[in-house]
Amino acid sequence: MTHLPAAPPGSGFAEEDVARFQDFFYRRTGIQFGAAKRYFIDRRLMERIQATGAPDLRAYMMALRHDDPEGAELQHLINAMTVNETYFYREEYQLRALSHELMPALAARRPGQRLRIWSLPCSTGEEPYSIALHLIENWPGLEEVEVEITGSDIDTRVLAQARRGVYDARSVQNLPGPVLQRHFEPADDGRWRIGAGLREAVSFGTVNLSDPGSMRPHRGRYDVIFCRNLLIYFDDASRREAAEALYDSLRPGGFLCLGHSESMSRMSSLFTVRKCADAMVHQRPDR
Ligand SMILES: C[S@@+](CC[C@H](N)C(=O)[O-])C[C@H]1O[C@@H](n2cnc3c(N)ncnc32)[C@H](O)[C@@H]1O
Repeated sequence: MTHLPAAPPGSGFAEEDVARFQDFFYRRTGIQFGAAKRYFIDRRLMERIQATGAPDLRAYMMALRHDDPEGAELQHLINAMTVNETYFYREEYQLRALSHELMPALAARRPGQRLRIWSLPCSTGEEPYSIALHLIENWPGLEEVEVEITGSDIDTRVLAQARRGVYDARSVQNLPGPVLQRHFEPADDGRWRIGAGLREAVSFGTVNLSDPGSMRPHRGRYDVIFCRNLLIYFDDASRREAAEALYDSLRPGGFLCLGHSESMSRMSSLFTVRKCADAMVHQRPDR
């Protein structure tokens, strides 16, 4: 018999209703909430129930399944449930591998061609802007090669923030001072606005890595994908599906960069592991 975790005091949700919710959410996003997340789930669910005026969780779930053809409330729920932690130059060693090894290798292999980089998930935009910044600062090949950078996420609220490009001091604290001074301007309340040129260099769009329909338009499109700090929220089954979807989105010979605790080898034999001076990356073989 499976023992479900106890509800936090005051939430009042029945265990089986929460389990049903978790299953529903997992099927749509690939995200598996552990028992430790129970307070977080209950609090966010309570907020959505109050916002929609539903009398209880069961009625809210019924409305979500049957009265939400446009998916508007599902999107609010996803926005409320995602964990969006990110900052500039996070896991910088991978940016070094990109600027010093991956881009030169790709440019040599596809002379004269445009190279495409995808940050999925991009959260509030720090990752794709970091990619652009690092290439501008460190890869002279940018003078000759056209590079397209796209940021995507399931959460529409963070994408709106990414398009605005205004960041607080904590978010930019890993950036070297001169890089900050060159590419940002001071905004209100001690925040920093990313320069217009850089903002226009990155495009953003909504994508759900766990939805084949959402991933289909991206098939075979990218030379490099950064998929960092998302698979930690997936279970083995959704991770395996994600590995296949990421593989399909790469061009042959393209590279996949994962977060430091997200090894692909356990779940997929699709990729070849490549050791760069600064990082391990995964490569879609030429076939
Ligand atoms: C912790 S952030 C990571 C951001 C960035 N890659 C980094 O490493 O700093 C995780 C992001 O994954 C997004 N996310 C969750 N499930 C997703 C899915 N199925 N498809 C696309 N994005 C998803 C969340 O909205 C959140 O913004």
